[in-house]
Amino acid sequence: MIDSQTIERIVEQADIVDIISDFITLRRRGVNYIACCPFHDEKTPSFVVSPSKNIFKCFGCGKAGNSITFVMEHERLAYIDAIKYVGKKYGIEIIEKEQTAGEIALNSDRESMMIVSSFANSFFYNTLHNTDEGRAVGMSYFKERGFSKQTVEKFQLGYSPAKRNALSEAAIKAGYKEEFLLKTGLSIKREDGSLCDRFAGRAIFPIHSLSGRVIAFGGRILQTDKKTAKYLNSPESDIYLKRNVLYGIFFSRQAISRLDKCYLVEGYTDVISMYAAGVENVVASSGTSLTEEQIKLISRFSKNVTVLFDGDAAGIKASLRGIDMLLKAGLKVRVVLLPDGEDPDSFAKTHNSTELHNFLETAEQDFLTFKVNLLNKNSSGDPLKKVEIIHEIVKSISVIPDLITRSVYIKECSKTLEIEENALAKEIAANRRKQPVSDNYSEKEQNLPATEKSEDNSENKKLEENPADKSTVATVFETNIICNEQEKELLMFMLKYGRTKLFVTGNKHGADVYICVDEYIIQDFKHDDISFKNIQFKRIFDEYEKLLTESPDREQSFYAQYFIRHDEIAISSLAINLLTDTNMQENESYFVSPIWNGTDNVHIDIAKAIPKALAVYKSKILAMDRSELVLRLKKTEEEPYHLDILKKIKLIDEQRKCISDFLDRVLV
Ligand code: CTP
Ligand code: MN
Repeated sequence: MIDSQTIERIVEQADIVDIISDFITLRRRGVNYIACCPFHDEKTPSFVVSPSKNIFKCFGCGKAGNSITFVMEHERLAYIDAIKYVGKKYGIEIIEKEQTAGEIALNSDRESMMIVSSFANSFFYNTLHNTDEGRAVGMSYFKERGFSKQTVEKFQLGYSPAKRNALSEAAIKAGYKEEFLLKTGLSIKREDGSLCDRFAGRAIFPIHSLSGRVIAFGGRILQTDKKTAKYLNSPESDIYLKRNVLYGIFFSRQAISRLDKCYLVEGYTDVISMYAAGVENVVASSGTSLTEEQIKLISRFSKNVTVLFDGDAAGIKASLRGIDMLLKAGLKVRVVLLPDGEDPDSFAKTHNSTELHNFLETAEQDFLTFKVNLLNKNSSGDPLKKVEIIHEIVKSISVIPDLITRSVYIKECSKTLEIEENALAKEIAANRRKQPVSDNYSEKEQNLPATEKSEDNSENKKLEENPADKSTVATVFETNIICNEQEKELLMFMLKYGRTKLFVTGNKHGADVYICVDEYIIQDFKHDDISFKNIQFKRIFDEYEKLLTESPDREQSFYAQYFIRHDEIAISSLAINLLTDTNMQENESYFVSPIWNGTDNVHIDIAKAIPKALAVYKSKILAMDRSELVLRLKKTEEEPYHLDILKKIKLIDEQRKCISDFLDRVLV
């Protein structure tokens, strides 16, 4: 039990930004901080932390609370354990009376499993440091591997005595229940009912949760015995869901977030040696293939992942799939190929810290470049092989959610593989159509030309032979929704890049003429007499225009801030969402006006993107108008009107043709 004054002190001390930052990366937005919500799956940050109010709230899933409830929810801790966690963080001494057997029993199973794991961790640690066997066998093994004292300390490495039931016996003696020794897999029950230790005689690598609690262990065999597995790991359990866990994340998460980059390696020793050599932003998938959950975990801290491959090329092909998963998650993926015969562990150990850093920096390649080269190398000019390569590459590009990133890659690959951009783009669009809808969330407009054509055909058919107009209504509705995406995109351009100058043309005196993105869009709307269909978007658009007239020539951030701080929550959260749309691969603050702030690789050509967005939007509006006309045509009885409507439809078709030609011609 903790006394209430202590609890009060802890709650008072707890700085919500500080606490939440230990688990997810918060980014400043005005007076608040935002992040992707850790409590539900989302791509656009809607999780907001207010330091002044000391609260968090997710505008996506509605979860809200204070620092303590955050720790409770996130770490699935009981109230009192969340208090303890925070107290420990702030060095507040917790005077607690000894727990009785009854109180221990009251703890949840999960908590009991964590407690017994923590006991085992200390037991292994003590054995390693304070027993003859531990020092002679365990410690000398770690020494031989080149792990320093600090490294062994840092990762809380341990040793499990060779005696088959040393841990089980000690645990039972200390009052821990057999049930939880079994549930965590630390002990195994023999036929005769006695307990034996899973890890007996092995070097111990404890596996920590994100918040640093021990949830599982890896045990490495010491002698090179071919008959037994090199590593034994804790079994899957209520506290150890393997698909959610990355080895090393507790130690590396801050470095990952600070350096905005995560190195991904295979094993325990790779993490440890890299970390010891000064590369602290490293995690391991621990030998298994990467899961979506693990990827999500990484992407909470950084969107840049660099995968380290062993030199022997054997595993590379198998790992390519995992990498496609990273791409699909919208991460920026790079690759480092280690010299022949090396793994990260051996390399880090045979090179000093500077050498390692230099090597990682210079050997790093963009994943697709790597893949192209890898496949190219093996094809030796065989045209059939080349076709295969192209399909492989196209497959990888197709899963990238962000349109602009895809275009950049298309350009790159077109150069390297000497294939026309157009051909690549078509194939990719076709691939994306085949993907489940949820994969295509970022934009549907890539598929637009084909979809629209087929829509047209079906409408024409319906026109001729099918008077039922139900499906036409559905089309109108769908087009409406598709318009939404375009309106969002245009608004995003205004809020993020409104003040960016577009080069228009030299005027008749030869001087260059510029127009700002926002003015360009507004003028274009006026010219074509169109306005947003979505009421909320229209509000932002109209208010933006008004603001621009009232306070011209302010910085981009001024306009963005206006909406972020809008007193209507709907408007402000919509603006926040637009400004922080992660699909657009934007990592930095919105007020940095020059294009995407990510300096390498991804550039958006605003001068192309804006006219394109406008054209696509208009073509969708036209499609909508057309559907309405078709509907009217069917409802209208009087012949004379038919001709009138058909004329209008023809006009729209001509306009649409113009737009689609424009899109085909200028912008692939
Ligand atoms: N692994 C495992 N079980 C095995 C083999 C491997 O769980 N039988 C996991 C471990 O997490 C290991 C990782 O896969 O760290 C990578 O395997 P490997 O490269 O064989 O091990 P290393 O980390 O290189 O181990 P060591 O250097 O100690 O041989
Ligand atoms: Mn190794």
